[in-house]
Amino acid sequence: MPDTIRNQLERDGYVILEDFLSRAECDELLDAGRDLARNLPSKHQRTIFTSVDGEKKQMKEDYFMKSNDKISYFFEDSALDANGDIVVDPKFCLNKIGHALHLLHPIFRCYTYSERVKTVCRELGFRVPCVAQSMYIYKNPGVGGEVIPHQDITYLHTEPIPPIGFWIALEDATIQNSCLWVVRGSHKSGVHRRLVRSPDKDGNIIMVYDKPNPIYPESSFLPLPVCKGTCILIHGNVVHKSAHNRSDMSRHAYTFHIIEKQNNKYSPDNWLQEGENAPFQNVYTTPQIV
Ligand code: FE2
Repeated sequence: MPDTIRNQLERDGYVILEDFLSRAECDELLDAGRDLARNLPSKHQRTIFTSVDGEKKQMKEDYFMKSNDKISYFFEDSALDANGDIVVDPKFCLNKIGHALHLLHPIFRCYTYSERVKTVCRELGFRVPCVAQSMYIYKNPGVGGEVIPHQDITYLHTEPIPPIGFWIALEDATIQNSCLWVVRGSHKSGVHRRLVRSPDKDGNIIMVYDKPNPIYPESSFLPLPVCKGTCILIHGNVVHKSAHNRSDMSRHAYTFHIIEKQNNKYSPDNWLQEGENAPFQNVYTTPQIV
């Protein structure tokens, strides 16, 4: 059987596409990510990120739930104090920005609906590939937090065809600055848990996990160090993680998820729902520029 990317994804649960973007293209996206980080929300707005209970916790959840059609900022836990003051170098305080960069930001839109992405979707056999969400991940030196082992389908449930993540390293991703780690072949082990919408006693929508996260043996993970410009395709069911970045090097990445819209059920329980301002647009037919 030829070693096509479709076969590799089916076999391993991930595919490494070297030189998906040139260094200059990565630099354009890095500049865009750094520009966004220079326009942080005001201190008043930032207090909602620091809350662990009460009304502000609900505001924090609402902020997340409403980020589907916005360019919203998410801070590292260790970057803010209880008053919303930034306690680290401000240029390193963000965890990520999401979830509609692909719709609202001309540069991210251009790369998301590119010919290269179309080609990969065709090679993977997508009929109606649609972009559901996008994120700019900072993984800043010293503060970039751990991402615990998970399957993306926990958060973005579709069946029978799983979502596929495009994860593009904008800088070299090494073991030192917390590259991705995967459990090769784990996509064949079903959906391990789900995050679903549930109304609480006050009628607010809250997100709850249906079961605890499984414990995955450390020894089952394989690091995927990649060079700047590499795209890693991530099967929705493959278990992956990344460590706290304790190095002095950042590890910026741009990532987005493609879902199949034809003959495929998108769960109404997912936090992310298609909206008037956030349509899941077809990669094959959506122009790069509006
Ligand atoms: Fe993930």
